Amino acid sequence: MLQLLRLLQDGQFHSGEALGAVLGVSRAAVWKQLQALEAERGLRIHKVRGRGYRLEVPLMLLDESRLNAGSAHWPVHVLDAVDSTNAEVLRRLQAGQRAPMVVTAEQQTAGRGRRGRRWVSPFAHNLYYSLALRIEGGLRQLEGLSLVAGLALVAALRDAGVEQAALKWPNDVLVAGAKVAGILVEISGDPADACDVVVGIGVNVNMPVDAVSGIDQAWTSVSAQLGRQVDRSALTLSLSGRLAHYFEQYLASGFSSLREEWQACHAWQGAAVRLSAGNQYVDGRVLGVSDSGALRLEVDGVEQQFSGGELSLRLRDDS
Ligand code: BTN
Repeated sequence: MLQLLRLLQDGQFHSGEALGAVLGVSRAAVWKQLQALEAERGLRIHKVRGRGYRLEVPLMLLDESRLNAGSAHWPVHVLDAVDSTNAEVLRRLQAGQRAPMVVTAEQQTAGRGRRGRRWVSPFAHNLYYSLALRIEGGLRQLEGLSLVAGLALVAALRDAGVEQAALKWPNDVLVAGAKVAGILVEISGDPADACDVVVGIGVNVNMPVDAVSGIDQAWTSVSAQLGRQVDRSALTLSLSGRLAHYFEQYLASGFSSLREEWQACHAWQGAAVRLSAGNQYVDGRVLGVSDSGALRLEVDGVEQQFSGGELSLRLRDDS
């Protein structure tokens, strides 16, 4: 089906006969695949007698050969649809495939977000990217890693023209208060020793703001910010480049060497916030992050530090 979509992605008309000839199938089989594209992928296809078929909105699918030719960093696998690219990388590691590797997909059917939430992952609009890296020094090496991934992501988004992209601790990316990207880090193996870390990154790239429901917070997309459709393969290449750069510095010199840069990208530096874990919360003012990536809050005049994947940060009304 993806092969058919590649033929249609230019948004031009293609006759059923011509499509069938390239794919080596009958016109009836082409028709069946077109119906499946509409039903399963949510795509709209124009059918005009005598001219053929064309996509209502042209697409640019991820280009696996370009991603591998352009990136000397890690092998990249592009999947059509998968439950979750993080889950897929974890399965591949379990099956003996070695890190480093990147898995991306056009669609996730069970995209995972932080704190057990789902990540809305429609077909061919966004970036669903999971990078597996081998970490030899145990969990201590991982402190700050997810924050460094956020820094790389902000750099890639700013390179793409989203100049207002900024971080929200620990690693959400916001533009003017609306979420444009998120990161979910998962671990495979013994966290006390050598293990693999999976850095899962979701970016709302070309997601139409009016066509998606079920997101329970303010969100935006790269295309909404730039006012044009964005080449997801180019963004993927840039993201890999930025991740490679920042991880190299992080592994050589630790998070402390990137702490200032991280704080300069923090949207809520100095803000009055509420930090929650379940129904417990603490109110404070953001001082920044520690050398290990913990959040530093001033609470009742005293500094306290917080870390952990289940925490969530909100701006306080009085900030
Ligand atoms: C969050 O902000 O809640 C984290 C979202 C992380 C989503 C990405 S999409 C690629 C990777 N695969 C997943 O299932 N989740 C991450």
